[in-house]
Amino acid sequence: MKLTENTSWHQLQQHYDALRQQPHNKFGQLTILQLRQQDITLDATRHLVTPETLRLLHQLTNTCDVKTHIHNLFTGDPVNTTEQRPALHTALREVSTEHFSDNPEITLLVSQLQQQMLTISDKLRNSQWQGFNGSPITDVVNLGIGGSHLGPLLAHEALAPYHGNIRCHFVSSIDKAQLQSILQQCNPATTLFIIASKTFTTQETLQNATAARTWLQQHAGPHSIHAHFIALTAAPERAHEFGVATENTLAFWDWVGGRYSLWSAIGLPIAIHIGMPRFLELLAGAHDMDKHYYHAPYAENIPVTLALLSIWYTNFFARPAHAIIPYSYQLRSLPAYLQQLVMESIGKGVTINGEPIDYATGEIIWGGIGTDSQHAFHQLLHQGTNWCPVDFIMPTHSDYNNDTEQNILAANCQAQADALFYGRTAEQLLVAGYDQALIPHRVLPGNRPSNIIRCEKLTPRTLGALLAMYEHKVFTQSVIWQINAFDQFGVEWGKELAGQLLKKQ
Ligand code: F6P
Repeated sequence: MKLTENTSWHQLQQHYDALRQQPHNKFGQLTILQLRQQDITLDATRHLVTPETLRLLHQLTNTCDVKTHIHNLFTGDPVNTTEQRPALHTALREVSTEHFSDNPEITLLVSQLQQQMLTISDKLRNSQWQGFNGSPITDVVNLGIGGSHLGPLLAHEALAPYHGNIRCHFVSSIDKAQLQSILQQCNPATTLFIIASKTFTTQETLQNATAARTWLQQHAGPHSIHAHFIALTAAPERAHEFGVATENTLAFWDWVGGRYSLWSAIGLPIAIHIGMPRFLELLAGAHDMDKHYYHAPYAENIPVTLALLSIWYTNFFARPAHAIIPYSYQLRSLPAYLQQLVMESIGKGVTINGEPIDYATGEIIWGGIGTDSQHAFHQLLHQGTNWCPVDFIMPTHSDYNNDTEQNILAANCQAQADALFYGRTAEQLLVAGYDQALIPHRVLPGNRPSNIIRCEKLTPRTLGALLAMYEHKVFTQSVIWQINAFDQFGVEWGKELAGQLLKKQ
């Protein structure tokens, strides 16, 4: 059945139309939308919803049979229908006894990969990996793009307090300015390059890898590649053709989507940075969120709730944008990471069966860190016409700030959420003694929704839970919107066109 023919969808539309008729409806804080998972709490009390809204949204979730789709995802059904493959990123992190995939062969493959990751990361962190002149490696340069870059970069920055002795760098741009800016900091004798590419065909990554190989061989001669290149790929034969040694090639599988791959071999730079035991904690945090998502009733389910609220604003309030504002410098790359996760997964225009879609899908993800964002784009969020829902991400404690300093961040974060939701009326401004002539310019309309997503502190475990939470929000949206979250045909033609233009030059 088409989504827009679903009775629950019609009832939501009628409910929305009725709400809009109420003059200046002021929504009160819905305390039932305080949800908690082991590592993450969601404060979704500042939303344009009533208990009836939630009932209808949960009814929609039931009619879309989200629970069955979650089971099919976790147990390895070919949910990526256009490419006839599973999307088993959850199987990469089944570090507890609850193995949803229940596939001994996959469990063995993942265990063997993690053993390879442990061996390599330990060797590097213990200064036992030597370069061409016998000196231990000091710098690792990850050459990747999209899902082979954004996840490792985000984890590297978020988990900076857990760093070891290896300096990790990340290069994604085909503009040589980026690679050059890194190489000028590195010594060829002690630099290891990681070529991170699921397909091992991505133009940007291969161009950077070739430039890195040339740079190395200029200093170390033609036979130096062995000790200075590792490949992370689902195409090991292509890595071998490039010259990467078989024993330095970590292979993963086609059932791991690129934007869902940091839990796989693509996560090697993270393991090098924080150590394999802590990488396993990252996986454990994600696995905890997997169990929450699989078992929690919709009303208590954080990813499901986030998905339903986004659908409410995207499809009924016609607010397709969504701002991600972490009040944490360590999460400065989270908006970029979520741009790919969300927009490459649910930026689709046809259903999973190839039928045209007559409703909005996807979310336009943007953002920046607070409190910097308060001095950049919050004016639009507070008084602009193009407001959008906001996710504030707020760790309660930090390795860098004492509690007094962290509370300043937290007070600013909550103040923004309150100001967006409650606004500031003309009457309040008059009572506060403001010049009557400027009152219209000072009024904050309010009724602007946001989530405050909190964790105790940014640790490998809480980061894993946070990222898995967003993966599962995206999957829930894809189920209700009846789209395939795991292919990305839309990005292929641009690459081909570029190739054609280059041939004409
Ligand atoms: O943007 C298209 C895409 O295929 C992404 O899905 C992927 O993460 C990125 O390019 C890099 O692909 P690869 O890891 O194969 O180099």
